[in-house]
Amino acid sequence: MTEPAEDRTLLVTGIGELVAHDPAHGPSGVLTDAALVASGGRVVWTGPAARAPAADDRLDVEGRCVVPGFVDSHSHVVFAGDRSAEFAARMAGEPYTGGGIATTVAATRAASDDVLRHGAGRLVAEMLAQGTTTVEIKSGYGQDVATEERMLRLARELTDETTFLGAHTVPAELAHDRRAYLDLVTGPMLAACAPHARWVDVFCEPAAPTAFDADESREVLEAGIRAGLLPRVHGNQLGPGPGVRLAVEVGAASVDHCTHLTGDDVAALAGSSTVATLLPAVEFSTRSPYPDARALLDAGVAVALATDCNPGSCYSSSMPFVVALAVREMGLTPLEAVRAATAGGAAALRRDDVGTLRPGARADLVVLDAPSHVHLAYRPGVPLVRTVLRGGRTVV
Ligand code: NIG
Ligand code: FE
Repeated sequence: MTEPAEDRTLLVTGIGELVAHDPAHGPSGVLTDAALVASGGRVVWTGPAARAPAADDRLDVEGRCVVPGFVDSHSHVVFAGDRSAEFAARMAGEPYTGGGIATTVAATRAASDDVLRHGAGRLVAEMLAQGTTTVEIKSGYGQDVATEERMLRLARELTDETTFLGAHTVPAELAHDRRAYLDLVTGPMLAACAPHARWVDVFCEPAAPTAFDADESREVLEAGIRAGLLPRVHGNQLGPGPGVRLAVEVGAASVDHCTHLTGDDVAALAGSSTVATLLPAVEFSTRSPYPDARALLDAGVAVALATDCNPGSCYSSSMPFVVALAVREMGLTPLEAVRAATAGGAAALRRDDVGTLRPGARADLVVLDAPSHVHLAYRPGVPLVRTVLRGGRTVV
């Protein structure tokens, strides 16, 4: 298919299983033997194939499963350099401490716009080929005004979901003066970056010497909020800590990692509108324990899954891999995992136009070379994404 004119309708038919996350199709939100009609870039109708209306164009998926485009709500794909040796050392027993971030900061500062643009573009294309139609991208490997601003400007070429993460770690040149770095982040760096960002994020991890404690993190988030940005938090990755409670306190859309949670953390999330974003490919790539996803779901916490694609803690761009890990390692049902990777990611970005295939949603959909969504976990590592539509247009 080529780009449909705005007023043309597209009928996707022969859908063996439509994972729509639409309560109109019952509690599972799933419909079998289904069809979907898109027009003007949106879903306008879903229902039984036998009752499908006529349309201008037609795509017969011949019994395959259709899921919403994945929403990867956490990535760091603008960077330069390679940390494969750090990964190999970890697999040989070294712990992940976040210390390697400084290596990527040095390489990113030294890289040209074109090198950064090419690297990020390649990763976003890799994501799209694996079914990701919405992606969030963070800064955080610049840690000076010019490079943070550059990272966000380049990220904006690829997505509207950009996040200012100047407070990722304190750079080596200011290790002796954290106060000076906080003043830089909340002052000139924020002023330069806010025009290119929707979100502000902080690595709240008192256990990591170069990351930030609760008071420092609050200061960064509050400055971002005053500059018109919406807060999100990296928290509770390397050990128990204040990240989750801080995220809830400031009304963050999401707290990401949640690897080490106490009962109080789970209770705080349950009483809040903050999504818990789990990044199990990080646990896979750092040999860490997986988060207690069942405790979160059973407590009624909204859960998202994302890749965290970055050169250090997890160099995977694959949402199908994340879904498989969530099922195998964290006890999510396949449907819970797909929901967290789509509607959950949308909630973590406070978006209601993506992540489902309800009428009105953007026609972002993935045709799997499989009869059901279960195959995403049942066939790990297999490239099951056959076709991707974004805004009703075939892009893969
Ligand atoms: O989300 N936790 C902090 N930041 C990244 C990792 C960055 C890196 O190691 O380069 C994360 O895991
Ligand atoms: Fe991250």
